[in-house]
Amino acid sequence: MTSFAPSLFPHGSWLVCKPKDYDVRYQINPWMDLSKTPEKALAASQWMNLHHHILRLGGWLEYVEHADGWPDMVFTANAGLVRGRDAVISKFRHKERAGEERYFKEWFSASGFNVHELSKGAFEGEGDALFAGDTLFCGYGFRSDRAAHEEVASLFGVKKLVAVQLQDPRFYHLDTCFCPLTPKLALVHPGAFNASDLALLEQSIELIRVPSTDAVHFVCNAVVLGTDVVLPAGCDTTYRALAERGYTAHPVALSEFIKAGGAAKCLSLKLDNS
Ligand code: ARG
Repeated sequence: MTSFAPSLFPHGSWLVCKPKDYDVRYQINPWMDLSKTPEKALAASQWMNLHHHILRLGGWLEYVEHADGWPDMVFTANAGLVRGRDAVISKFRHKERAGEERYFKEWFSASGFNVHELSKGAFEGEGDALFAGDTLFCGYGFRSDRAAHEEVASLFGVKKLVAVQLQDPRFYHLDTCFCPLTPKLALVHPGAFNASDLALLEQSIELIRVPSTDAVHFVCNAVVLGTDVVLPAGCDTTYRALAERGYTAHPVALSEFIKAGGAAKCLSLKLDNS
């Protein structure tokens, strides 16, 4: 059983995985290029900087050990989805990541969560399923299946499920193009959705639209701690839009993780969705 007490950390707690065997050794999304592998020492210092930002801004972190041979395991957003003391374990689309499942399952069990496994379809956890209050926003198509989202929603007794289809292979997980800031406000990259799904999102939550120049730097892949938002470097337009709404952007350089198709949010899994 972990010792963390969510109420002591009102901005939240996250599961992270310190890079030990992080690399780009295969290509399962358009960002991954075997001729542009991450620089290990730089990746380690970028991860540490992200880690320090979350702690400094009042977040709590839990750690899962990086298992050798599973280079994408650092992207803990894909471990599963948590609500209360229940955790649904992911079922990865690609065999390249499927071996991570047992390590995440072990961590959740050892940490006292009720662990659930899905019966149908692929599901890549918080990468494709984000809570905003009582609403669960889900992205399907590339990595997760609709049937899996419906199963997750019924397992958690979710009141409202908003499922949208991801359109652009560069934005293959929902957390690469959509980020709830509160139950009523979210960042969105409109180009990642078709018009009817964008309208569906808009009916459910107020949207701050980010320009595609920021979206390609993973600006939507943000960790939200109250009014502080930790997000990738180089996205000034979105930082200004956030400031206008009362948020403070904390940019962190994450170039070595973007080479694998992930950034701040992908590197963390929320452990205290209520
Ligand atoms: N290389 C990883 C993959 O393709 C990156 C995962 C990014 N995670 C995320 N939550 N968007 O699966």
